[in-house]
Amino acid sequence: PLVVPAPTGVMDLPALREALTRSRHPLLVTATAGTTDTGRIDPLTDIADLCTTHGAELHIDAAYGGPLLFSPTHRHKVHGLDRADSVTLDLHKLGWQPASAGILAVPHRHHLDPLHHRASYLNAEDDTEAGLPDLLGRSLRTTRRPDTLKIAVTLRALGRSGLADLIDRTLAAAHHLADLIDETPTLDLYDRPTISTVLFRPTGADDTTVATIRRTLLTRGRAVLGRAHTGNRLWLKATLLNPHTTPQDLHTLLDLVDRLTNDLAEGKTPR
Ligand SMILES: Cc1ncc(COP(=O)(O)O)c(C=O)c1O
Repeated sequence: PLVVPAPTGVMDLPALREALTRSRHPLLVTATAGTTDTGRIDPLTDIADLCTTHGAELHIDAAYGGPLLFSPTHRHKVHGLDRADSVTLDLHKLGWQPASAGILAVPHRHHLDPLHHRASYLNAEDDTEAGLPDLLGRSLRTTRRPDTLKIAVTLRALGRSGLADLIDRTLAAAHHLADLIDETPTLDLYDRPTISTVLFRPTGADDTTVATIRRTLLTRGRAVLGRAHTGNRLWLKATLLNPHTTPQDLHTLLDLVDRLTNDLAEGKTPR
């Protein structure tokens, strides 16, 4: 496998073109719609065009970004997702289900034929004929429980418009957080969010301070922030996933970070 660089946070198209041209029989390109670090979405249509030209299949990891399809306001961001030969989605993010809640979507039922593989030590033919149940054929993961029930319940209970509403509210909260950071002179915003991930850091802080702030908020039980290393720096990462987040919650979060930054600058040791 060849790793295509993503210097701007998304897959570099000239580098992908070169990799596909150099490789004699390119088999599969995997792209991402919603990266774990920044929530950015690869240029899906351009990548799909290159795959068509070079005869490679396309898989898109849309674990995070895939559900944007439910939202008429945000679905343009995943334009080109339908060009993939296979897509992974995960409803443990923009689907509000506990992990695990993954889906592998393929264009034709026959792609799942390997699931019907039978092995005598797992499902003896006479038992199957007698109607004894087994998990093979129901999940890709043999003895692990299939996630389909909770996914089906979410889709049935909320429907497209119910999911769209939760998604729109969550993304609006992320944009509001980005606005607040932008307006705070003591904080730097990495970029406007594509989905609901907002990266920020105290202005002028070094990476060790950023890491200490995150760990202290966690151990004091005040806030659970992620971290992302991008652009040669460490950032605090807020992946907003709660549609009920209020502006006050966001103010409180930034206030906590600000106060802790000041404490650290004054040499106070965080407990
Ligand atoms: C981009 C992306 N892909 C996939 C996953 C999930 O992967 P797995 O099903 O291996 O936990 C995540 C995170 O949960 C993710 O952020």
